[in-house]
Amino acid sequence: MLSKNLLDEMNNQIKLELYSAYLYLSMAAHFESSNWGGFASWMKKQAGEEQSHAMKFFEYIHDRGGKVTLQGIDQPPTSFGKPSEIFAEVLKHEQSVTARINLLYGIAVKDNDYASQEFLNWFVKEQVEEEKNATQILEWLKLAGDSVNALFQINGMLYKRE
Ligand code: FEO
Repeated sequence: MLSKNLLDEMNNQIKLELYSAYLYLSMAAHFESSNWGGFASWMKKQAGEEQSHAMKFFEYIHDRGGKVTLQGIDQPPTSFGKPSEIFAEVLKHEQSVTARINLLYGIAVKDNDYASQEFLNWFVKEQVEEEKNATQILEWLKLAGDSVNALFQINGMLYKRE
């Protein structure tokens, strides 16, 4: 059985993961409408991953005898700056998600809830990947500067994301 505190925070996490999906989908819409298909494709895949993160919490809460309570999802921003500014925003957002995962982990440790620690280990590793990927693309974009040619190359590379 999950503690009330951990259950409440996991429910909050579902909202955050779905907000993340919304945020990246909004960024995808921005890139689609600006004809940067590779950036849009990357963002749509990222949005799909965030939905799957939300579902991992959804299933886990029920596996532990809890009940999911869905909350309203905030509207994401709808206008964005340059690609480098957008990926700086992605990195900042992922760092805030990492902080949330650490908070959940801290509660699970305090609760002596070993099953939840094991469940959360996946997210701890995933956040390392999430931050690494955002940082890498941000670094490429910083190097590209205002070169449209370099931006086209990065756009092409982002189509290849699995
Ligand atoms: Fe679900 Fe990108 O963190």
